[in-house]
Amino acid sequence: MLPIVRTPQALTEAMEAWKRAGHRVAFVPTMGALHAGHLALVTEGLKRADKVAASIFVNPKQFGPTEDLDRYPRDEAGDAEKLRAAGCELLYAPSVATMYPPGFASYVRVAALPDLLCGAARPGHFDGVATVVSKLLAAARADVAVFGEKDWQQLAIIRRMVADLDLGTQVVGAAIVRDSDGLALSSRNLYLTADERARAVALPEALARACQTLRAGGDVAPALAAAERGIAAAGYARIDYFELVDGERLTPLRAVTPGARLMAAAVMGSTRLIDNLAV
Ligand code: PAF
Repeated sequence: MLPIVRTPQALTEAMEAWKRAGHRVAFVPTMGALHAGHLALVTEGLKRADKVAASIFVNPKQFGPTEDLDRYPRDEAGDAEKLRAAGCELLYAPSVATMYPPGFASYVRVAALPDLLCGAARPGHFDGVATVVSKLLAAARADVAVFGEKDWQQLAIIRRMVADLDLGTQVVGAAIVRDSDGLALSSRNLYLTADERARAVALPEALARACQTLRAGGDVAPALAAAERGIAAAGYARIDYFELVDGERLTPLRAVTPGARLMAAAVMGSTRLIDNLAV
């Protein structure tokens, strides 16, 4: 069975004991509902360190009042077994009361980046992410922390925060893991009906087509417009954004530059899906 600790002090002690024994340690923060994409983060951690610890904490501070906090899938025992099988050796699973005891009043906010892209549809979301990730990294004191590239905006914000606050952990992005038809794995894919799941593939298809057009020297605006038409035609209820951005600053681009990234978010049924692709 995977050892589980539930307080920041216990996590720090376990990580420091590994380091005293001469190990390099990696940390993989998650909200559970683990799929192959999360397990790839553990694999990435094992490439860069001797020991991997993961956390499962469904962070209430990153959910808006109308979002899916209550129905977010939870299966700690099942997730712990998946982590163990992937090579993770420790799970940090604190309660909400441990993370945010009465009187909790401190927030971490990265300037500008959280207001762009997903931030427009999810006000406060990235402040919740930055706050919880800073707490997790402060307790873990890992050499390396691994995050998925599917949440590219989150990764950019965390990189900025860790650099600005000298948190001393190297932030590593792991490539998106996709289903055989190309849909990016996400815990929220579980909410899709079979019909929605079949139509959802229009999002990665639109990204791939736009990417091809741009790599072939096509103009940005028509490529983005064609992509949006494809997504709408598949029955997505809403497109929050489909943009070409600078991969670090996340600002919109009118032409492809080094590090440019296509970023997309759209709602299928009642499920909001995000995806991105390097151009
Ligand atoms: O990507 C996630 O699962 C979450 O946003 C994270 C980084 C674990 C913070 O709650």
